[in-house]
Amino acid sequence: MIDPRKTIINERLKEIANIIAVSSGKGGVGKSLIASTLALTLAKKGYKTGLFDLDFTSPSTHLILGVKNVTPIEEKGIIPPVIHGIKYMSIIYYSGEHAAPLRGEDISNVLIELLAITRWSKLDCLVIDMPPGISDATLDIIRLIKRIRFLVVTTPSRLAYETVRKLLNLLKDLNIPVLGVMENMKMQDSNFIRKHVEEAGVAYLGEIPFDKQLEEAIGDVNRLLETEFSGRIAEIIERNSRLLVPK
Ligand SMILES: Nc1ncnc2c1ncn2[C@@H]1O[C@H](COP(=O)(O)OP(=O)(O)O)[C@@H](O)[C@H]1O
Ligand SMILES: [Mg+2]
Repeated sequence: MIDPRKTIINERLKEIANIIAVSSGKGGVGKSLIASTLALTLAKKGYKTGLFDLDFTSPSTHLILGVKNVTPIEEKGIIPPVIHGIKYMSIIYYSGEHAAPLRGEDISNVLIELLAITRWSKLDCLVIDMPPGISDATLDIIRLIKRIRFLVVTTPSRLAYETVRKLLNLLKDLNIPVLGVMENMKMQDSNFIRKHVEEAGVAYLGEIPFDKQLEEAIGDVNRLLETEFSGRIAEIIERNSRLLVPK
């Protein structure tokens, strides 16, 4: 089916140098916190950064950033509001506190619509908070956003890694670049994830400890950036900045 919006999407994204999808095989592994912290940290380092919440079923980045009562400006499309130094776009501008009960084709439609109307302009990096797993929405995003590269999150659990292994295989089959894997909520020493990731020929970017202070920092960006969690993410970015956001 010819959909003119699909041509517009490429046009809208063409001034973005790097597009990073924070993804996992599972929910609850820390994608939204990592995506938000990654975006905030890149912005602090002086990169022009955007954050796009594409987890329509459970959007959370607005809660992490403490976004309230913000409405984007409409001008030949939608201009994403700047929140804590990042251009921020989410379905919550339109759904508010209500659930967005989207199914099947509706999800694709909203996705295409948001991609086609959002005017990011020039960005060094757009971070995407992805829906969990290999859902239709994930496959749509891969299909619609050319140049997308994946940053995959796992926990130390074999159960999480099993779903991540499948995601990595799928991305390999589809020829989608994978920047690497972050191991989140680490509580004890173990090489299990590093070993498997490296055996799969993927970069192991580093580990992030389980941080008891993190929950209280949700909604308070200054506090979030002072947590050990954010400190570790900043280190990982520092070590891998050429990989994550090549200038
Ligand atoms: N490193 C960590 N230490 C402690 N809690 C964490 C950590 N990473 C994530 N969490 C918690 O885990 C839960 C799920 O995180 P979230 O970012 O919403 O995951 P996802 O987007 O993958 O579903 C949240 O309550 C969050 O506070
Ligand atoms: Mg999430």
